[in-house]
Amino acid sequence: MPRLLLVSNRLPVTVKAEKDHVSVVRSPGGLATGLSRPHERSGGVWIGWPGDVSRLSAAQRTQVESQLSALRCVPLYLSASEVSRFYEGYSNRVLWPLCHYLLDRIPRQDRDWEAYAKVNERFAELAASHYQPGDTIWVHDYQLMLVPGLLRKRLPEARIGYFHHIPFPSSEIFRTLPHREDLLRGLLGADLVGFHTPSYAHHFSSSLLRLLGLETDLDNVTYEGRTVRVGGFPMGIDAEAFEKVSQEPGVLEELRVLKERSAGQRLLVGIDRLDYTKGIPRRMLALQRVLERQPALRGRLRLIQVAVPSRTQVEDYAAYRDKVDELVGRINGMYGTVHNVPIHYLYRSFNEKQLAGLYRAADVMLVTPVRDGMNLVAKEFCACRPDEDGVLILSEFAGAASELRDALIVNPYDVEAMADAIEEALRMPVDTRRRRMRTLRAQVKSRDVHWWVGSFLDTLQGMPTPSIRKGSV
Ligand code: G6P
Repeated sequence: MPRLLLVSNRLPVTVKAEKDHVSVVRSPGGLATGLSRPHERSGGVWIGWPGDVSRLSAAQRTQVESQLSALRCVPLYLSASEVSRFYEGYSNRVLWPLCHYLLDRIPRQDRDWEAYAKVNERFAELAASHYQPGDTIWVHDYQLMLVPGLLRKRLPEARIGYFHHIPFPSSEIFRTLPHREDLLRGLLGADLVGFHTPSYAHHFSSSLLRLLGLETDLDNVTYEGRTVRVGGFPMGIDAEAFEKVSQEPGVLEELRVLKERSAGQRLLVGIDRLDYTKGIPRRMLALQRVLERQPALRGRLRLIQVAVPSRTQVEDYAAYRDKVDELVGRINGMYGTVHNVPIHYLYRSFNEKQLAGLYRAADVMLVTPVRDGMNLVAKEFCACRPDEDGVLILSEFAGAASELRDALIVNPYDVEAMADAIEEALRMPVDTRRRRMRTLRAQVKSRDVHWWVGSFLDTLQGMPTPSIRKGSV
């Protein structure tokens, strides 16, 4: 395996400061989890932001740096203004809603483009300074769309891959963005541009054609004398590791306790970052509809909803939190009893073992985002069910729906249809559940994160070597 130079906005670990103790903890999101193993194996470095370190003393900073360096992580510190303009601003107030088809959430005036471009320059500069000939550079996600182009200028012969972890929208949506051409040209600095599904790759190619007049021929596009390949590479999870955790004695004990305390109840589970793309309100309304339609289920059906705090400084996230809080209160107020409530809502991070316990306890797992690049929670749920039971309800707008066809696929905008799916899942005979879960698990296990990394890197490394490329230009 060649040395990998990974570049992503967030490092796989984030600094956590508590009073006089400082440590690094695993970052949220699939990107951090998915790439940890290839990073360990390749012996390269990972460049990214370790989170807010502004309140650390000099001694604590040194402590953090030595912990990061032991993990071969190179920190790129963001100033307070960069956090607010590059991370919260352009990345999460403009690109995030745009790629999730939520144009109404984009501020009318975008003032953060310069900060985005500047921080992308900083990432490219730092990555180039760590580059050694023969390295493969792998840039990740929408926060760094200009980095491949900026690296290409500095390192014309380098092998560069880019992976987009969120949806790439239809060209009709993408073209609304004032800086659309710059972003497309930024991505074209890579040799290989990867997406979770063929349809995102197709949307990207349509944008290249409509906005830059570039034609894609059999997944290849010629740009500035180079061939750039575009393709779908559905990301997987470390299925074996999840399955192992789900069988640990501590997890099984937790499961036993949970089941005992929920005796006579059916459990629905939702696990998401608290993000407005995740479709949590409509999911709760679907539960409300089920309770309205079926009085017999009142007191016997419970949703455990984990909402992991995320991007809390961005107004839309705070407003979304209020909306979810209010809905939980309303539904619990309506259908709760002195003994129990229909929604058990937990606003905090959970570790892997706690999550595995919940996955195992779920009669029905609800993954109903209004739009989602892939959604690895759906895959984690299947990996954690060696008992081959449990039903997955999955949004048709999650990338995972193009692979996990044995889930109950729903339109997350259709509350009635989601209520129908919950009822169907609760009624589903055990042999049907097992048959479906077996197929889902086989899928998740065969296309795991190692398969994903391998297929992306094999394609990238199978492209003409830099010297051949140089000769042919
Ligand atoms: C998604 C994105 C990642 C991001 C993660 C967590 O999975 O694709 O790039 O790291 O969310 O979001 P955050 O803003 O906390 O990094």
